[in-house]
Amino acid sequence: MQNSYLVRTTNFTKYFTLIILLFSSSMLACKSSLEEDLAPVAAVKTTPAAVVNGNSSSDSAGTSGEDSSTGADETSSSDETTTPTSTETQSNPATPTSPTSPATPASPATPASPAAPEKSNVIANRTLKNSFNFPIGAAVDMDRLNGKTYNNVVSREFSSVTAESSMKFGAVHPSKDVFNFKKADAIVAFAKKNNMRVHGHTLIWPKDSLAPSWLLNFKGDSTAWDNLLKTHIQTVVKHFKGQVASWDVVNEAYADNGTLKDNIWLRNIGPDYISKAFLYAHQADPNALLFLNDYGQEFGGKKMTAILNLVANLRKCNIRIDGLGFQMHTVLRLDIKGLKTNVDRTVAAGLLIHFSELDVSVRYQKPENFKLDDALATAQAAKFKEIVKVYLSIPKALQFGITTWGVSDADSFMNSNVVNKDHDYPLLFDKNYSAKPAYKSFIEAGLGK
Ligand code: G3I
Repeated sequence: MQNSYLVRTTNFTKYFTLIILLFSSSMLACKSSLEEDLAPVAAVKTTPAAVVNGNSSSDSAGTSGEDSSTGADETSSSDETTTPTSTETQSNPATPTSPTSPATPASPATPASPAAPEKSNVIANRTLKNSFNFPIGAAVDMDRLNGKTYNNVVSREFSSVTAESSMKFGAVHPSKDVFNFKKADAIVAFAKKNNMRVHGHTLIWPKDSLAPSWLLNFKGDSTAWDNLLKTHIQTVVKHFKGQVASWDVVNEAYADNGTLKDNIWLRNIGPDYISKAFLYAHQADPNALLFLNDYGQEFGGKKMTAILNLVANLRKCNIRIDGLGFQMHTVLRLDIKGLKTNVDRTVAAGLLIHFSELDVSVRYQKPENFKLDDALATAQAAKFKEIVKVYLSIPKALQFGITTWGVSDADSFMNSNVVNKDHDYPLLFDKNYSAKPAYKSFIEAGLGK
């Protein structure tokens, strides 16, 4: 009979070596795949108003699937694939001033613009931004900001902006060696002038139908693709360093079944493209808050689990991630309990939460063009209030803010390819930029009503 002490020690050494091996392999796994990432990138020529394909104005000139000249008119493609569109969905410290309690500001009733809020849907001396202790944002488009009414409503009501399209890959990186920040810079300048926070959207949207044709045709080994990823992210983040408080580093990487969506970065770099993207963004601006943005988390399921697992893995590799963007392109029949459950899971992970692209579609089972009658407007107002109340249950330290995806029903992407705009009514202001019942209920939630 072997001496039990000997047996025990040999087992102990065996297990101890195994643990060491496991630990070092995981660190090695983190380390080996990221070692080359620490190498500095070559500086790239950035031309503020680059002329590409002869049209300097368009921020998505000659680039992404956004520019129909490349034939990949993204809007149509996205609608049928992933991102929630106008119909039902399947089946987010850097604020200028964060008042301890909502201060009593100048009354919204005095704006010069004819678009004064509908009297019955406003609360005296209240705007969206002065009714909350965290930023209330809107996705904005620079061309529209040149419009007086739109500009007035944005500057009066919101304390944060997200570029709806102007900071996306194809818009700022129209060809391999050319960066074009013209429209994005204009949005940053507008925000600065109005003391608003800027949330960057998005460094990597792994969706080939949106990729600029030069990127789709790029030929190179994984190192070359890795350098391309690093060059894009670090050039963009460095350009906006100190001006953009936070970034959606990666947008919509996961399928509903929790697997990674297929895309050029995954095919050419591997699943590490996400961790590399976060590392590169942090290296370029260590003060920027970094988010993973996606939709459908409010429904929980495999996608939410996969996202929280990714966060755990990034943390294991000491790669910074600060928060999750819940896009919240949602519907009247959203199960608020499901949202609360997944918000609580995210709070439990100590992550900042941004309701990053909030809108509430009301067109479910409605004819192509339908009116927003009082019953529907009231139901929508109630849904917005429920959603905001779930957000208010998040501990203050994790409240990054709520951003609506657009300003009014007139500029919502849900009506973007529709002639008469009575396709859907997803936002807080109607197509005349007058406040809807949803606007009032949103503010009431902020005032604890
Ligand atoms: O700017 C060009 C213009 O020059 C050209 O004439 C026109 C013709 O196609 O296209 C314009 O680009 C459009 C761009 O928006 C700017 O308005 C693109 O076609 C269009 O596809 C693009 O749509 C945006 C879409 O993301 C794709 O980037 C929508 O406005 C924007 O609301 C939508 O937002 C996404 C979020 O980023 C991620 N989550 C889902 C959300 C809704 O799809």
